[in-house]
Amino acid sequence: MKKQQFDAIQAEAELLWSRQQIEQAIDSLAVDISRDWAHSKPILLGVMNGALPFLARLMLGLRFPLEIDYVHASRYGDAYVGDQLKWIVEPSVSLQGRDVIVVDDILDEGITLAAIAKYCREQGANKVATAVLVAKPKEKNAHVLVADYVGLEVPDKFVIGYGMDVAGYGRNLDSIVALTDKLLSSY
Ligand code: IMP
Ligand code: MG
Repeated sequence: MKKQQFDAIQAEAELLWSRQQIEQAIDSLAVDISRDWAHSKPILLGVMNGALPFLARLMLGLRFPLEIDYVHASRYGDAYVGDQLKWIVEPSVSLQGRDVIVVDDILDEGITLAAIAKYCREQGANKVATAVLVAKPKEKNAHVLVADYVGLEVPDKFVIGYGMDVAGYGRNLDSIVALTDKLLSSY
């Protein structure tokens, strides 16, 4: 992505959620998760790279014993259309008998998260929950997976920011924006 394209996104993309709104939503999820998981020493399993800022903020709101680990699996690779799940890094701690909260940036069709949750169960996890920063409309994904914790809703558009990318860029935007067709067509 050229600097020009990055600037165009900031100028033209549709603002969906501001940093303040996002962080309020994450802090409120932290309250819910604290209520539900304070006694099970869970593993928070971040799905890299998109979960990075969400996981960072969320974990600081959880005041109970937990471990952090990550997986790097992606369904999209470098393209924008759905594809097979690609494993790049598997978890490094054993999930056997553990409670696991899978943390991801976005629930689109739910295929990625469902595959990761299934993998955790196959690795012997006791309880597996899912937490996503944003979710697209339920018609797209509820038949595949219902996330246990959802920060914010987004429309069925291509969104970036607060961890989410287009072709690897845009993760560092501190708000969540929807790309217009014009912006998307420039990739
Ligand atoms: P799913 O398998 O359709 O739920 O796809 C989820 C994955 O696709 C996410 O972890 C993202 O990496 C990517 N993805 C889906 N929709 C978007 C979007 O609007 N913006 C950025 N990434 C997206
Ligand atoms: Mg992702």
